[in-house]
Amino acid sequence: MKLGFIGCGVISIAHVEGLEELKRKGLETFELSAVCDIQKERAENFALEVEKRLGKRPVVYTEYHVMLENEQLDAVSILINHDLHHTVAEDCFAAGVHVQMQKPLAISPSFGRKMIADAKKYHRVLTLSEPSVLGAENVAIARAVKEGAIGPVSLIMDYATVTLNRGFFAGTPWRHMKGQAGAGWINDHGVHRTHFFTEINGSIDEVFAYTEIFEKELSNGKVTINPTAEDTAVTVFKFKNGGLGHWMCATSTHGEGTGGVWVYGSKGCLRPGRHVTLEDGSKILMSELIERYAPDIVEHPFAHSYVELWEAITENKTPISSAEKGLEALSVVFAALESATIRQPVKVQDILNGKKHTYEDTVFEEMKLPV
Ligand SMILES: NC(=O)c1ccc[n+]([C@@H]2O[C@H](COP(=O)([O-])OP(=O)(O)OC[C@H]3O[C@@H](n4cnc5c(N)ncnc54)[C@H](O)[C@@H]3O)[C@@H](O)[C@H]2O)c1
Repeated sequence: MKLGFIGCGVISIAHVEGLEELKRKGLETFELSAVCDIQKERAENFALEVEKRLGKRPVVYTEYHVMLENEQLDAVSILINHDLHHTVAEDCFAAGVHVQMQKPLAISPSFGRKMIADAKKYHRVLTLSEPSVLGAENVAIARAVKEGAIGPVSLIMDYATVTLNRGFFAGTPWRHMKGQAGAGWINDHGVHRTHFFTEINGSIDEVFAYTEIFEKELSNGKVTINPTAEDTAVTVFKFKNGGLGHWMCATSTHGEGTGGVWVYGSKGCLRPGRHVTLEDGSKILMSELIERYAPDIVEHPFAHSYVELWEAITENKTPISSAEKGLEALSVVFAALESATIRQPVKVQDILNGKKHTYEDTVFEEMKLPV
C-alpha cells in the first residue's frame, strides 16, 4: 500500500526507522511514496534521507491537498502540530485515505471525538501511533501486568522533569503555546504516560492536579515567546480498580532533570525500561519479559504502529493503540488540567463525554474559536 507523510519535522525520522525495521524483517508493509511539509527544504532533505534508508525517494509536496489529489495514497501518517490534527485528518478521510495520527490524538478531547466520528462517517481507519504502548517491550510490560506478574497494581509513580534552560522543548516554540499544543508538557509528554497507565491498569476514575507556568519567557536567541501552556504539573489519580497514581511532569526545572516510573503490585515492582523486582528480591530483565510475553511483536514502537495500521486496514483488526484509547488518554490529561483550573477533583468520564470543559474552553479561546 502507498503511504504519505504530512509533516517532516522532529519525529518523522523515527517513523522511517520503524519502516526500516519492517523492511529488514521482510514484513509486508507500506511504501512511503510521498512526503509533504510546508517547509520545502525540510521536505526535500527528509525525502533524501528516506531514499538512503528505504531505497526509494518519495515525491515531495508542500501542500497536502495537492499530494492527496495527485497521489493514489492508501494511508497517511500525520506528523504536525496538535491544532491541525483534526482538520488535516478530515481532509484525508474525505479524500478516501486512511489515517495514522501522532499523539495526542487531537489538541483537545472534543476534537478527538470529532475525529473518531469523521473516520466513521467516511468509513476510513484511524489509528494512533502511541509508542508508550507499542513495540515488544511495551506490549510485554502491559501483558505481564495484566497477567498478574506483579499482582494487582496498588500504586504507580511517574516523575519526569527536564531542564530546558528557558529554551524550547525539541526546539519547537509551538509546544509551549496552548492554542497550538492544547497544553504544555503535561499534554505533549503526559499523554504518553496516561496512555501507558490506562493500558496496563485500566481506566482512571478521578484526577486532582496543580499546574503552573513558572517560566514567563522562553527563547532560543532568535525567537522569544511568552508561554501560555503549563510548564509544571503535579497530579494524583485513582484507577477504577482502586489503584492510586502520583504523576509529575515539568519543563521548568533547572540544574538537574529526573525521570522514572515505578509500577507497584502486591508481588513486586515493575520499572519500565529496566526490570521487574519480585518480593523475594529476584529480578526479571526486560529481555526475559519480552521473550515470555511478546515474542510475536516487532521491536520498534513505530514499526509496530505500521503493523497495526496495516492490520486495521486489511483485517479490520482493532489496534492496541486505537483512537478511542488515545481519546481516553487525552481525557485523563484534560481531567488534570480541568482540576487545576476549577480546583476540585475531576472524573475522567466528565471530560470524555464533554460535560466538563472549563479548561478546554481556554484552548478554544486561544485557537480563536467561539466558546
Ligand atoms: N514519541 C512520539 O510519539 C512523538 C515525539 C515527538 C513528536 N510527536 C508528535 O508528532 C507531531 C509532530 O511533532 P514534531 O516534534 O515532529 O513537530 P515539528 O514542529 O518538528 O514538525 C512538524 C512539521 O509539520 C510541518 N507542518 C506544519 N503545518 C503543516 C501543514 N499544513 N502541512 C504540511 N506540513 C506542515 C512543519 O513545517 C514541521 O516541519 C506532534 O503531534 C507531536 O506531539 C510524537
